Amino acid sequence: MKLTDQEKAMLDGAGGAAKRKAMELLIRYGEALGAERFVDTNNVTGVPGWATDFLRHYYKDRGTSYEAIFSLFDLDSDEIVEVPKMSVYSCHLQGSMDPKLWKEQGKTADALADYLQDEAGVAAHGIQVLKTCTPYLAGNVPVKGEHCAWMESSAVVFGNSVIGARINVEGRESTSSAMLTGKIPDWGLHRDEGRLGTHHIAVEVPVADVFNWGMLGYFVGDAVQENIPVLTGDVSNPSLVKHKHFGAAAASSGGIELYNIVGLTPEAASYEMAFGARKPVENLRYGRRERRQVYDTLNSVGSNADVDFVMIGCPHASIEQIWEVATLLDGRKLHSGTNLWIFTSRSVKSVADTTGYTKIIRDAGGYIMTDTCSAFGRTMPPDTKVVALDSAKQAHYLPAMMGVEAWFGTTRDCIAAATTGRWNASAP
Ligand code: F3S
Repeated sequence: MKLTDQEKAMLDGAGGAAKRKAMELLIRYGEALGAERFVDTNNVTGVPGWATDFLRHYYKDRGTSYEAIFSLFDLDSDEIVEVPKMSVYSCHLQGSMDPKLWKEQGKTADALADYLQDEAGVAAHGIQVLKTCTPYLAGNVPVKGEHCAWMESSAVVFGNSVIGARINVEGRESTSSAMLTGKIPDWGLHRDEGRLGTHHIAVEVPVADVFNWGMLGYFVGDAVQENIPVLTGDVSNPSLVKHKHFGAAAASSGGIELYNIVGLTPEAASYEMAFGARKPVENLRYGRRERRQVYDTLNSVGSNADVDFVMIGCPHASIEQIWEVATLLDGRKLHSGTNLWIFTSRSVKSVADTTGYTKIIRDAGGYIMTDTCSAFGRTMPPDTKVVALDSAKQAHYLPAMMGVEAWFGTTRDCIAAATTGRWNASAP
């Protein structure tokens, strides 16, 4: 790779051992990708340290200092080096438990102590403790054209598509190295040519609510995998929440990191702008039959209508979604055998606390939880067998990960299941 003088200096150790290790790692990574240079970034989100349970166990025998985990794992270095404060704007994504509701989530006091020790290390190194998969709902909102280094596929697809930022789905090692250096390889979605559409999807049924946007996203991801879809047709202007559920679903059934909707997303003022000089490699349609297939797939592991757990908030719920749940629940109680957990970021929860939504949901018997979710934190109420979900992404992952049955429907269907204990929704 061609290095600038500043990059060469970091590689020569001018910024200390950790930055040298980070540059070595990024150069190996960039060369493997075929990148010729780096771009500068001042917006990095990742999971530096040991916020996930498995790392805690993996390196417990090597010492759980922040430096040890960061060196061995994030920097892929056998030598434990001193880790300075991060050089650029850096944020921590989701973690493995709610530090207040950890008992309800079945976590141990020992695991909590480790989690909080890691968090202290994160803060001490100048990393913002957002603890969410939706950093764009918690204060980290890039601008159009901004080069970012982000993990978390649902956040990346939102940043690229809805905002027009330039982001590849990164990993722990590349984001941690980018936090130290402010560099990330210049390839893929950082480059103009990497952002042009490849597949055209003609939408031929109305797509209006979050539920339908989730199903459309699931179809598109499965159909185009890691390519770049461009949508036209019967789509009304989606809200932030609809984009959030569409992109998360598309990044689950496939590996979509960028989509465009002609006339609606910032890089697709026209069909020609979305594809550039390219012709689509495939033209696909999304009609009634395709929608029904997606619905059946997402409900394929649901057979028992007795629901014992309802999970909302994948990706982490916005305050609008929490308001919707609180409105649906106001004055009602959950069914005696059914639990309701809503996952969100700490900052959104603080608004829910202040506005009274947390109390309404708690009075009904449900919880608003932060930091994690059932799939990421491997956490559900004890003895859960049947789950109701309003997220296509969570419906894709949770049954396989936790061995449960799952129903997928609207938020209203899910809250009805929470109050009656029964799944009573039908296909669109
Ligand atoms: Fe977030 Fe968990 Fe979904 S971390 S995107 S809520 S799988």
